[in-house]
Amino acid sequence: MHSDGLGTFSAAQSRSKKLEEKIRQNHKAFRVLTGERPTGLLHIGHLFGSIMERVRLQQLGTEVFVLIADYQVMTDRDELGAVTSNAYNIILDNLAAGLDPEVTTFFVHSQIPELNQLVLPFLSLVSESELHRNPTVKAELEASGGKMSGLMLIYPIHQAADILFCKGNVVPVGKDQLPHIEIARVIARRFNERFCGDGSIFPLPEALLSNTSLLPGLDGRKMSKSFGNAISLSMTNDDTAALIRRSETDSTREISYDPENRPGISALLDYIVLARGQELNAESLHLVVDEINSDPKYGAGLLKQKATDAINDFLEPHRTKRAEYAKNMDYITEVLKNGNIKAREIAATTLHEVSVAMGTVY
Ligand code: TRP
Repeated sequence: MHSDGLGTFSAAQSRSKKLEEKIRQNHKAFRVLTGERPTGLLHIGHLFGSIMERVRLQQLGTEVFVLIADYQVMTDRDELGAVTSNAYNIILDNLAAGLDPEVTTFFVHSQIPELNQLVLPFLSLVSESELHRNPTVKAELEASGGKMSGLMLIYPIHQAADILFCKGNVVPVGKDQLPHIEIARVIARRFNERFCGDGSIFPLPEALLSNTSLLPGLDGRKMSKSFGNAISLSMTNDDTAALIRRSETDSTREISYDPENRPGISALLDYIVLARGQELNAESLHLVVDEINSDPKYGAGLLKQKATDAINDFLEPHRTKRAEYAKNMDYITEVLKNGNIKAREIAATTLHEVSVAMGTVY
């Protein structure tokens, strides 16, 4: 695929900074689309990496759409699993974190046929070799030993439909998702050029980069429930403390930030900084390292204690609100039903515009 100005990471970073400025100046011109797969309970990586960013954008006044990407769960696994309860848990955590269902729309793939139908005309705009060149698809093909599903092959196009169906023009993502935004831009541009004459239907979506979206798990690997290295938002304080106590550190007493060689220690330092509401950077990390090393009780034990306290204090209001919302699950299902209705209306309008442009109105 040809590069689209998102070619290098630093170019993407500077575009993202400019986008942030534009949103601040005129939030009404922007619609945010974010998504996640309902594969399990959400953890602090989700909260710091994406949910808090959504809350921030909602507070700036932008419209936010949160897709619970249930069909995407089937790209690389045979069964959907507990997809409905996972979806409701996602909504619980998003509401507890401050998203307001009156202004933020929650919806699922499987309930929006018109969104899914957009995938067909979009597929006609890309070549088979472009699909194979997507880094996620490539990695998946290798990992699956040639047994990748057809849905996995077209997943970046499906994701383009996720964004373009509602004309989302801001997509908060981590670095790993940048190639998907690029393909969504390519599709938007090609559709406009091929079918829209002098006009255009689709805006070109832009990536808003989040720098905490790849928060590591307790062992330094990707944070994931299946690795047992994730602090989930719905855990109790005691479970959180126990999980941190069991996490692997090392025998060097002096604390230092070194993700490569000391993944467990470094992950805990990341958590302390973020849970104390600070920005994650070399300086803030250094301050925590100093704070621990200058204490007579310095060492991994003190680090774990501080991480446990910081996380449990930080999550206290979230966990309280989550438990409140969980008392009324009818309300949560209602939030999703209403979101689906709204998303479907928008998708139907867009599909109609697409049909008019393509000349397939009967
Ligand atoms: N692929 C994203 C993930 O695995 C989830 C997702 C689905 C998404 N559709 C999207 C993200 C559209 C942004 C835009 O986390």
